[in-house]
Amino acid sequence: MLKDGQLYIAHSDNGNINLVGNMANRHGLIAGATGTGKTVTLQVLAETFSQAGVPCFMADMKGDLSGISQPGRLSGFIEKRMPEFGIENPQFAGCPTRFFDVFGEQGFPMRATVSAMGPQLLARLMELTEVQAGVLNALFRIADDNNLLLIDLKDLKLMLNFVGQNAAQFTTQYGNIAPASVGAIQRAVLQIESEGGDKFFGEPAFDVNDLFAVENGRGVMNVLAADKLMLNPKLYSTYLLWLMTELYATLPEVGDLDLPKFVFFFDEAHMLFEGTSKALVDKIEQVIRLIRSKGVGIYFITQVPSDVPVNVLAQLSNRVQHALRAYTPQDQKAVRAAAQTFRANPAFKTEDAILDLGTGEALVSFLDEKGAPSVVERAKILFPLSQIGAITPGQRMDIQAAAPAKLKDYEKFFDRESAYEMLTEAAQKAEEEAEKERKALEKQKEKELKEKEREKEKKAKSSKKGVGRTILGTMIAAAATSFARSAGTRIAKNIGGKSTKSSTAKKSTSTKKSTTTKKSSSTLGTAAKKATKTAVNTAARKVTTEILKSIFS
Ligand SMILES: Nc1ncnc2c1ncn2[C@@H]1O[C@H](COP(=O)(O)OP(=O)(O)OP(=O)(O)O)[C@@H](O)[C@H]1O
Ligand SMILES: [Mg+2]
Repeated sequence: MLKDGQLYIAHSDNGNINLVGNMANRHGLIAGATGTGKTVTLQVLAETFSQAGVPCFMADMKGDLSGISQPGRLSGFIEKRMPEFGIENPQFAGCPTRFFDVFGEQGFPMRATVSAMGPQLLARLMELTEVQAGVLNALFRIADDNNLLLIDLKDLKLMLNFVGQNAAQFTTQYGNIAPASVGAIQRAVLQIESEGGDKFFGEPAFDVNDLFAVENGRGVMNVLAADKLMLNPKLYSTYLLWLMTELYATLPEVGDLDLPKFVFFFDEAHMLFEGTSKALVDKIEQVIRLIRSKGVGIYFITQVPSDVPVNVLAQLSNRVQHALRAYTPQDQKAVRAAAQTFRANPAFKTEDAILDLGTGEALVSFLDEKGAPSVVERAKILFPLSQIGAITPGQRMDIQAAAPAKLKDYEKFFDRESAYEMLTEAAQKAEEEAEKERKALEKQKEKELKEKEREKEKKAKSSKKGVGRTILGTMIAAAATSFARSAGTRIAKNIGGKSTKSSTAKKSTSTKKSTTTKKSSSTLGTAAKKATKTAVNTAARKVTTEILKSIFS
């Protein structure tokens, strides 16, 4: 709690333990076994920041953090501790809170676009191999070079189809694009989709500036409902990682501040590092190192400190270590390692104390005014002034209803023109063109056959109307060649005797023609079928080749 302008967090035999405001952006760690008090410690820290006017972001893994929005109340446990904390009459109060939910169920949606997420994080999300990640990277460059927006998963899927179908042409400029890799990425996209990832990508994309609200001098608590999200550790950690990098990219350098501008709590932090490539861990480390000069403090919450890579751990200076259990030799090793990260207190043995701590008790070491880690203290963590434990769905709805209109706009999903629409439109155009080509060919064939196949070599001559498109249009049309081919095949079948089912005026005219042809001679029909099929395919291939030549020459 904020007491006499201090960020009062815990109490030991040696007095109050305060987090030093201008050191709070030097990051922190809350560790401890299940049920030892990590979430409540996070809540105490966060509400203290809120009281000091610092907005925070936190993921709510079990729903219990939602209580931060409501005033707390006395319990026997709290009453017993009050005298020790020097608190006589606690002013229970909730913090201004906003709820978010990637799935849009328990809070405002927090979407990201595929391109904002970027190939590196997506590769991690999809658990791609290095080679597959390279292909994904090439796909992003191809999209970029051609102004194709990658917003949602359907953009990504159609782009994958397009790149896969034209792999040979792209290889020269963008490196090898193996069909097997494209296939693997396609399967991974389907997997994400089946896990609800389609809700996660799209627009309106979340603007991190909406996290910095302060209401009546109190920092707003941005709580991400993560109970469902955490069932997919990759999605959860990739999303939070994206948010962290967005914060980093958005915020300006601010130098040393009396208080952080923003604090980001990263619960179940071990998920962030499991199965993460060395390159990405390095990137995380770099972001954490640099983000503090932007006034952002990052606090990891995890069971044992060794869950966090040493280089990252070294940057988490403000530490709260709750009890650990040591049932196995491996546990004992973890306890020893945790103990060694503290500056020893001659009054007790750190290692023994870690095993002996009760609920809501912890070993605490914060940075002092000079930025040096203080000697570790065995302390009791304050109780929160907000409610411990989950709120009701009704309370949640009331909070959402009272939120600013800007946040409600996140519920208005929209789907603007992007790669999917552009590629689909181009595919339709290409199909129309194939139809035109088919008609021209049909006419020509009729003439040729009537003239007793006098000029056989001319049969494949196609009209090249429409080739003079824009670069983008032509590139897109290449993607549509397969549509054109299948259209050509279908049309060839119709000429061979089956009537077309198309209802458009254009198509019914051509049907009449082909029916006439059929009536005049059935042998004619068979010959036409064969010849036209070959001709259409050749023409379609020819158009594709020319289009691609025009782009890549
Ligand atoms: N500082 C505290 N003041 C008052 N009560 C506390 C405090 N710390 C913990 N408690 C009590 O202990 C319970 C368990 O704490 P908490 O939920 O924070 O544990 P946890 O370490 O987050 O557990 P898990 O790993 O299962 O999430 C709380 O519901 C609360 O009743
Ligand atoms: Mg917890």
